[in-house]
Formats: sequence, structure tokens, C-alpha cells
Amino acid sequence: MNNLKVKTSYDQFAGSYHNYMDDSHNFWNKWLEYPHTIRFLNSQDLKDKNVLDLGCGSGRYTKEFVRLGAKVSGIDKSEKLIEIAERELPNVEFKVGSVEKLPYQNSSFDYVFSGLVIDYLPDLKKAFSEVCRVLKPGGSFLFSGHVPYSFLTTKVKGTEPQAFLLGNYFEEGKFEREWAPLNLKQIQYHHTFQTLVGALVQNNLYITEYLDMKPDEEAERSGLKDYYEAFMKPKFYLIKATKVITK
Ligand SMILES: C[S@@+](CC[C@H](N)C(=O)[O-])C[C@H]1O[C@@H](n2cnc3c(N)ncnc32)[C@H](O)[C@@H]1O
Repeated sequence: MNNLKVKTSYDQFAGSYHNYMDDSHNFWNKWLEYPHTIRFLNSQDLKDKNVLDLGCGSGRYTKEFVRLGAKVSGIDKSEKLIEIAERELPNVEFKVGSVEKLPYQNSSFDYVFSGLVIDYLPDLKKAFSEVCRVLKPGGSFLFSGHVPYSFLTTKVKGTEPQAFLLGNYFEEGKFEREWAPLNLKQIQYHHTFQTLVGALVQNNLYITEYLDMKPDEEAERSGLKDYYEAFMKPKFYLIKATKVITK
């Protein structure tokens, strides 16, 4: 199994990652995370709004912002994923760059969206301060991530219903995530809810919506066994946090 840093791994596996996110056997993204996120985006007023897709990958959600009539820009650390995004959406401006140092002016965007990127960021306070800087006052940061304990659980073999062992929730920091379908291990970061919410509040970003992604009937109809795990414990959340206007 390959053991790689974030940028290297996404550069090396860009093509397989792009295909995997849309694979009908990929319960977690295709049947759970993607439909919830799309419903969430549809509920926002995005028409003619300036939107940044932060950590846009190969542009899975950038495409939706175009469909919803937003003026969208995309940025990601991985050159190879950006190459795919540019091929798929030639009229969108994409940049290769990092969340921690965004090449945009202060107060440029009405919305910053970030799908499944938080788990790769070692310092949320620093990252969110960049998000806050590029957001207009009153603008919103929409993001999804893995619930903090989802990577801490391991399955207990031979249990029915499936039992899970929980690791130490309070031990924050780097860990190796095994991504079996892509035969890949990646470095990711575990943050508690306290760290996550604290980093938002310290940057004047106040939570206005929170969603645990619970599988629906359509997800059950996928017939995939991961449905039963997803039904018992949340894997992903979605948060909307709004930049408070300060004097
Ligand atoms: C799980 S993928 C999600 C991609 C896309 N948002 C989606 O939902 O399809 C995580 C993405 O975050 C990007 N990423 C991770 N750390 C980053 C950083 N510090 N700055 C910019 N992009 C980053 C990776 O290159 C990768 O494309």
C-alpha cells in the first residue's frame, strides 16, 4: 500500500480518485456525502454570487456551482486534479494553491465552499483565518468533513450487529488513513469538535446550520452493505458558518 503526503497522493492518484468519487459502488460518496451536499447547495441562494471552491479537487462541486448560476473559482493543492478540473470546466478559473495562503484579495467572496478538505488541515485556526479574510462580511463558509470520531473506530470482527472499538477522541493530530479502494494511505488530522468550533469562533465565523449526513431510502436502495454502518453512526457532517460583521 502506498503511503503518501496529501499533495503527492492526489497528484499520483488523480485519475483514480476522480473516477472513484463517481463510482456507483462507492457508497460513502456517491450515495451519502454527494446527495446530501447537493441538497444543501440547492438550498442556498447562489445565483450570481461569487463562490470559491476551496480544495476543489477535480471540480465535482465546482460543476454544481456553475449549474446553480454562481460565479465560481476553484483552488487546490494538487496540480493533477486541477488539470482534470480545467479539462472538465474550461470556462472556470482554477488555481493551484494552498488553503493556508490564498491568492485572493480580502472580502472577495459571498461563499467559500470546502468539500472534505478540513481533515487534511493541521491548523484549523490558521486555515479559517484565511477563509475569513477572503469572505465578504455577512458571507458564508460551507464545508463538509468526517465527524471527528469516524476515523477513530475499528470494526470488531464477528459481531452482529457490527460493534466498533473507539480510539482516543482527545488525542488530536496526525494519523495515517487507510483508503482501501484506492490502495492508499494518506496523512490526515484528527481535530475534536472543540477545536473545530473554537477555530470558527476565533475567526468570527458563527455556525448557522449543522447537518449529520444520515442515509435516506435511496441510499438504502443502493443495496450496498456500507448502508448499515452509515445508518448507525454518522460519517460526515455539513456546516454553514457566517462571517459576523464587526465594527
Ligand atoms: C477528499 S478531496 C475533496 C476534493 C473535492 N472538494 C471534492 O469534494 O471532490 C480533498 C482535497 O483537498 C485538497 N487539499 C488538501 N489539503 C489542501 C490544502 N492545504 N490546500 C489546498 N488543497 C488541499 C486535496 O488536494 C484534495 O483535492
